[in-house]
Parts: sequence; structure tokens; C-alpha cells
Amino acid sequence: MTKPLIEITGLYKVFGQAPHSVMEKVKRGDSKDKVLAETGHTVGLKDINLNIKQGEIFVIMGLSGSGKSTLIRHFNRLIDPTEGKIMVEGIDVMQLSSKELEEFRRHKMSMVFQRFGLLPHRTVMDNVAYGLEIQGIEKGERYKRAQNWLDTVGLKGYEKQYPAQLSGGQQQRVGLARALATDAEILLMDEAFSALDPLIRSEMQDQLIELQEKLHKTIIFITHDLDEALRIGDRIAILKDGVLVQQGTPDEILLSPADDYVEAFVKDVNRARALTVETVMQPPALRITASTIEEALQQMKRSKHDYGYHVTEEGYQGLVTQESLIDAVEDDTCDDWHEEIYESVPVVSPDTAIEEVLTETISSDYSLPVVDDEGNLQGELERTAVAEIFSEPSSEGEENHSEEPKKPTDPTLDKAS
Ligand SMILES: Nc1ncnc2c1ncn2[C@@H]1O[C@H](COP(=O)(O)OP(=O)(O)O)[C@@H](O)[C@H]1O
Ligand SMILES: [Mg+2]
Repeated sequence: MTKPLIEITGLYKVFGQAPHSVMEKVKRGDSKDKVLAETGHTVGLKDINLNIKQGEIFVIMGLSGSGKSTLIRHFNRLIDPTEGKIMVEGIDVMQLSSKELEEFRRHKMSMVFQRFGLLPHRTVMDNVAYGLEIQGIEKGERYKRAQNWLDTVGLKGYEKQYPAQLSGGQQQRVGLARALATDAEILLMDEAFSALDPLIRSEMQDQLIELQEKLHKTIIFITHDLDEALRIGDRIAILKDGVLVQQGTPDEILLSPADDYVEAFVKDVNRARALTVETVMQPPALRITASTIEEALQQMKRSKHDYGYHVTEEGYQGLVTQESLIDAVEDDTCDDWHEEIYESVPVVSPDTAIEEVLTETISSDYSLPVVDDEGNLQGELERTAVAEIFSEPSSEGEENHSEEPKKPTDPTLDKAS
């Protein structure tokens, strides 16, 4: 396992006159409301422990006031913790001198803000070059680099414009280009897309994912929107009242929400879009491996199934039914495997979103074969398993999986956000 890039241990943040004086109450478990009522102190964060790995998009999610901004402001020490440890690349940020801290902020992390944070009296070009200016890079070089990032985010031709002349989406592209231009390894994005219209926002998400495939930065992305978190996050941490209530991959969070709070988020998600075939498929019920049709029929009869997936050393060949095998055996002009023996059933790939294979799944009489890039059969996609993901999520987990297939809701009725 690679060492985490950012390591947060036992982090507490209490806002108020004398934070340390209320730590005892906080630690014994008094609620945020109770601490506020009794002492006038606000519990910002409570015993946060998390690791962020190099090259991942780590999403911090939670409702407004849950402590998301407070948490990332600790990463570059814009806020000092009341208690706890913040290690970045093995460096304890609390131990940095003010000079070292300045360097650290300039080179290690750059931030993209919700309200873009652009300088209104500077051109687009000068906004993007700003971080480089602070780094002391000479004009020619900084314009060259800024231009490169402006081109990358699709703003060629806008160099001489001022922020107010651009749309929200374009302004945020400037913000993104500015952050990328500093060449910092870690990108902190605090609700960076939250102020954008849904369509533009979705475009920005795509662009970020695309950029990340090339750049492999470590991105810490804050959002209050689970759809956004699921779409871009490799891992997601969910905050509630300053407490980390769940940490995991998008699938883990969707399939087993830790508590009612997480479940409330999960309920509104278009799970057909967020889940992939791989997470829903089952192992194939019957693999037909026989080399002749007669043996195949024997193999099928021994199993309780009336159809199966024919596989050879070359991989998946096709879906055969008992009926077609019987016909083929009776008709002795064809005792070898041949095209016509297979049913015409679409093949799906493991990393496809369920949403994209919904029609095929629902309209097929058989569970669809799941075949990977190498042509190997990985599983089968059952109609009932697909229908199941449209049923209410359950925090009780496995026990609650009913046998009864539930009616899928209209997949086109997506939450527009
Ligand atoms: N400087 C501050 N002084 C006092 N309370 C603060 C301060 N900053 C944040 N808080 C409180 O800490 C909690 C978390 O705030 P914040 O991190 O801004 O939440 P989020 O970013 O999730 O909306 C809130 O209750 C907020 O009122
Ligand atoms: Mg915030």
C-alpha cells in the first residue's frame, strides 16, 4: 500500500473564546447543539480521521454547516486545529515556520472557490498567471504557461476579457486554469461547481474527470450534492455536524449507507446512473463448457437450468437454451457448434452504467451475459437484480433483500441537479 498523501488524525476544531475549556464536553459526546447552548462554542469538527491517497479524487460531502470548509482549511493551515494532527507528504503542517508555510501554500496546494475568487480588474490572462507571479516566475514564462492552461480548459480567445464579461461556467474555468497553472500537486476545490447551472456543472464535472486522467493530481473536492460526489469521487467522506459518518467508495455508500443521514442523501440518487453492471451482476448460473452439443445437452440436463452460457478457451461464445440443444441433437446434419444454435442476446460490459443497459435488460428473456474486454464471461445481469436497485435503499443491509422484484421507476425521471 502506498503511503497516504494527506493523513488527518484525531482532528478537533472548536470555534469560540476558549476552545480548550470545552474539549472535555466535546470528547464525552455532548452534541453540537448542547455545547453551543451551554458554552457558546461551536463544534466545527470532531475526531476526524482520514487518509487521502496520491492521485485520487477524494470528495468531502455534507449539508451546509457540516464542517466541510473547516476541514479543508486545515489542510493548508488556513485554520489551526484545536487538537489533532495534519500530515501532508510526511510533513507535519503544524511544525512549519511561517516562511515554510508560505512556500507550502504556494507550491503544494492550490484552491478553486465556489464564487470563482477572480480578480475583477485583471484580465483573464492575468488572473490565470497570478499564482505564477506570486511564485516569482518572469512575465514571458508565466504568460506562456497561463496560455497553455487557458487553451486546455477551452478559453482560447478570451485572454483579454475581464471576468465580468464571462459566463459563470467560463469564470470557473478561469478559476480552474489558475489553480492548475501553479502546478501544485494537490487541488482543493470548495463547492467549486455549486454555483453553476446544472448543464454547465455537468460539463465541468466531465472536464475535471478528463483532466484528471491526464494530470493525476490529488483532488479534494467538496460538495453538498451526492450525484456530483458519486460522479467524480474515487472515495467519499460524509460529514454531519462535524462528525465523519461514513467513508467509502461510491458503490459502498450507495449500497450500504451507514445511517439515516447518509440514507437520506442516497434516496434521491439516480442509482441506475451511479452503479455499474459489475456491482449488480451475479456469477453465471450455468457455464456450458462441453466440447460437443450432446455433452452440452447432458450438462444442461444435469443442472436445473434451461439455458446457459457457452464458453471455450477463447472466451464467451453465446447463450444456448436446452430447447435449441435438443433440436440440434435431433437434427443430425449438424453435430458441431454453429452460429444458429445461439440465441441473439446482447452482451454487456462490466463497467457500463446500469442506466445504459436498462432497455436491453428489461426486454430480454434471459439474464444478459457480462463479458469483459478480453472476451471472458464475468457474470450475468439478472432482470430482478437490476429492478432491485430501484427499490428503497436499506441501512440494514443484506437481510432486507426481498425476493420479490420491484417495479422499476421511470429511468428518465432524473433529479435535475
Ligand atoms: N470562523 C468561525 N467562527 C465560528 N464558527 C464557525 C467559523 N467557521 C465555521 N464555523 C461553524 O463551523 C461549522 C462548520 O462550518 P463550515 O465548515 O463552513 O461548513 P460547510 O462548509 O460544511 O458548510 C458551522 O456550524 C459554522 O457556523
Ligand atoms: Mg463550506
